[in-house]
Amino acid sequence: MFYSEDLVEEIRSRNDIVDVINSYVSLKKKGNTYTACCPFHNEKTPSFHVSREKQLYHCFGCGAARTVYTFLQQYENYTFPESVEYLAKRAGIQLPQREMTLQERKEADYNSALKEINKAAAGYFYYALRQKNGEAAMTYLTERGLSQETIHKFGLGYSNMYRDDLYQYLKKKGYDDKLLIDSGLVRHDERQGVNDVFWNRVMFPIMDLNGKVIGFGGRVLGDGLPKYVNSQETKIYEKRRHLYGFHLARRSRREGFILCEGYMDVIAMHQAGFDNATASLGTAFTIQQALLLRRFANKVYLAYDSDGAGTAAALKAIPILREVGLSARIINMQPYKDPDEFIKAMGAEAFEERIRQSESSVMYQVRVASKKYNQQDPESRTEFQQEAAKIIAALPEPLERDNYIEAVSNQYFMDKKKLTDLVNRSGRYMIEQKQYQEAAQEMKPQDMRRQERAEERKQQPQRLLLTWLVNCPTELFPQLRGRIGPEDFTDTFCQDLARQLFQQYEQDGSVQPAKIINQFEDVEEQMRVASILQTELKMAPSPEDNSIVITEIVRKVKEESLQYQLAHLQDYSKLQDIIKQKSEIPNWNISLTCG
Ligand code: UTP
Ligand code: MN
Repeated sequence: MFYSEDLVEEIRSRNDIVDVINSYVSLKKKGNTYTACCPFHNEKTPSFHVSREKQLYHCFGCGAARTVYTFLQQYENYTFPESVEYLAKRAGIQLPQREMTLQERKEADYNSALKEINKAAAGYFYYALRQKNGEAAMTYLTERGLSQETIHKFGLGYSNMYRDDLYQYLKKKGYDDKLLIDSGLVRHDERQGVNDVFWNRVMFPIMDLNGKVIGFGGRVLGDGLPKYVNSQETKIYEKRRHLYGFHLARRSRREGFILCEGYMDVIAMHQAGFDNATASLGTAFTIQQALLLRRFANKVYLAYDSDGAGTAAALKAIPILREVGLSARIINMQPYKDPDEFIKAMGAEAFEERIRQSESSVMYQVRVASKKYNQQDPESRTEFQQEAAKIIAALPEPLERDNYIEAVSNQYFMDKKKLTDLVNRSGRYMIEQKQYQEAAQEMKPQDMRRQERAEERKQQPQRLLLTWLVNCPTELFPQLRGRIGPEDFTDTFCQDLARQLFQQYEQDGSVQPAKIINQFEDVEEQMRVASILQTELKMAPSPEDNSIVITEIVRKVKEESLQYQLAHLQDYSKLQDIIKQKSEIPNWNISLTCG
């Protein structure tokens, strides 16, 4: 934390959110709230709300509610400390010279050491590519059509054939083994001691948005397997938060971003002049990445591979892009496999044309769906129509839905009135189901790797419980006492939030989510917290149903916690107690009066 929590809170309270936002967007008073068209996404009807009472803003079109700090971070692209400084000045508050705690200093030192190591390694690989034994790697790159300028711009390099020369090089620079192993560039092996991870590969340094190297992808020269070896995740390298080539793409003057699948695609695109191309890091596209894009643009062109896997990945990316208010269009790469091949065969002019012909994400979803059905067969056609209706019903703006009802009914020769009915029915159904689906944890995308999915599944009840705690604190906290505490949240992030909520409730008898959200510096982190703490609960229609849902959630959280304790048990005298607690869970019933 850059400034003390109290100070941040003090500054926040002296800057009324309505006044601050009103100096950027003109707000209209409507009852207790102020509204405007959302400055963060395109819309015609105002769904951006600012509440003086809660000191939060919320856009119903593009997501979570947040504080005056987040507004400045989003609107002005300020960092958190910058927005604190701006608001302090605005309120005439003198800021102290800041000092870090010992723990903060340690973390900062550790992280900057990891960055130094990555930087040193990048330099080492870069140099090696230009040496005699880097010739084969250089030939490989030039034969794939990369110019010297491009190779330089992306900092490409080569990890040579020796078993541990990078390790020796870094060791000589004075880094100890533990740190080097943590960096993911070397690993310890029982038999052979310490070894380099990358060996005889073309090296692609991966950078954060400021151009600092945080990890590597290493490609085999030619057809060997595995095609890529990648840095493991570290404290400075979280794959879900970064995008390949983004430090360059963010400065592009082209409209929006072009999102590709591979490192080579990004590089080929930049070389052809599409310097707004970027890609996720060999993993599925995430909401954090969408938010990162959202900070700099409001449009994304998907240039995924044209094969089945690419189509599936595009279908998964679309709702994520939409969720943060980005408009998504899909570029057709046919008959080529990916942007790299397309550019090589057809050139930049032709790609430019494909951008112009790109398809809206909705029409793309409908078209992909249409291929699964036989339009000549009445039964199959009905199923297609229902699926198309579902796709349209998922759009948040009524006007947008109307436009797509029109477009889809025209293109697929459907009766407009019939499609409208289907859309309305399917929209209602979705709202009713949402809360239950969440409780039943069926909303998870299929693409995540199994382990990630299992992790997410475990998190889901914990996140839901947090949301309920914020929405019904006075009913829930007393009923949880003696049953569930913050320590039962096995996910560290959820646990941290739970601890703060419990503490607030104990002290004040109420909870203040805005105060918790403020404590995170990073916008993405804040969005994550906000999306948990500020989610408006879609309650079931009756108190009885709500009681069933919350009971189920509470039981799941406790079961998970006991399961975790069992797995990590060291003191076996506790075993009896855990088993006893476990047997009591089925008798728990939480009852709510809200609904
Ligand atoms: P591709 O197989 O399309 O790779 O995988 P590419 O980068 O386009 O490379 P070329 O053109 O075949 O040489 C897309 C992305 O998936 C990740 C990498 O991030 C790659 O850029 N990937 C792929 C891996 O992490 N490991 C692999 O073994 C393969
Ligand atoms: Mn590829």
